[in-house]
Amino acid sequence: MKVEGIKFQRDIYLLLGRLRSAHGDFVSGEELSRTQKISRTALWKKINFLRELGYRIEGHQSKGYKLDLSPDIPYPWEIYPERDSIWKNIIYYKTIQSTNTQANLLASQGAPHGTVVIAEKQTGGRGRVGRIWDSPSAGNVYISLILRPDIPLYLSPQFTLAAGVGVARTVEEVTRLKPELKWPNDLLFDKKKFSGILTELNSETDRVNFIIVGIGINLNADLEDYPEYLRSEITTLKVATSKEYNRNRFIQRLLDNLQSMFVALTEKGFTHVKRKWEEYFGMKDEIVIISSEREKLRGRAIGIDNSGAFLLRLENGSIRRVLSGDVNYLRRE
Ligand code: BTN
Repeated sequence: MKVEGIKFQRDIYLLLGRLRSAHGDFVSGEELSRTQKISRTALWKKINFLRELGYRIEGHQSKGYKLDLSPDIPYPWEIYPERDSIWKNIIYYKTIQSTNTQANLLASQGAPHGTVVIAEKQTGGRGRVGRIWDSPSAGNVYISLILRPDIPLYLSPQFTLAAGVGVARTVEEVTRLKPELKWPNDLLFDKKKFSGILTELNSETDRVNFIIVGIGINLNADLEDYPEYLRSEITTLKVATSKEYNRNRFIQRLLDNLQSMFVALTEKGFTHVKRKWEEYFGMKDEIVIISSEREKLRGRAIGIDNSGAFLLRLENGSIRRVLSGDVNYLRRE
């Protein structure tokens, strides 16, 4: 099924900018149509388009238009970066099956490096190893980034870890609380998950064509927005801190931090990312269980190595390098 997204529109961005600069006062229709270089009818159409998207704009015959309220919805012009940024191609969907699936499709049709696919709600959100990512429309973040780094295949896990640091840093800046990173890329507060990252690769022999980094963050949802069986395992930033967050500002910071981490990775190398990742790693020296399809391992968590693999000290003292699996704290009696 073909789904239409909403793309960035410069005229809408400029129109909102002018209305906002009046700080709740009217701006005359004459001025708006002159500065936007459009007819009064075209202006009226744009105002109505914005009203349909949830903006409250008062219209007065002689005074013009006044912006009373903007919805906290990540339309591309709301999260469009102000300064130098790679995130210039943003597409928003009200409902989509999965932003990762859509990003894969767009990337295979040639969408550029730095494309951002974002949705209000996912009907088939996907998690790691074929799990479901419950994605209610409740003020959360569902976002997928298309990256086209010129790197060999074996370096791609480092992008996932760099993304994890970008999310952790944003959460810490916004909440003033330090989240925990759980390898490979879950984010936790008090051992409860509020964010996960699903990285998908498209490659040829040993070069990467594109990477999709899909990030889900339970931001403003309540536990009641999730099915009952999940409620004891997860949390949201709202539940963990008893505060609601401005989603658009959160996403802008997130995109900034992700870009900084990807730049650091490509320009300074993985050791820089690794150091940051370890600052948020909460399992160091803890006894953990790693479960993969093949085996279950028990040991003490050491951290990650220079390629991003997990290091575990087994009970016989040897060190095991783990490339995939789920790490969990050993439940203590
Ligand atoms: C995990 O923890 O298992 C990874 C979860 C990743 C969820 C995000 S939400 C946005 C993007 N679209 C998807 O379908 N999945 C990722």
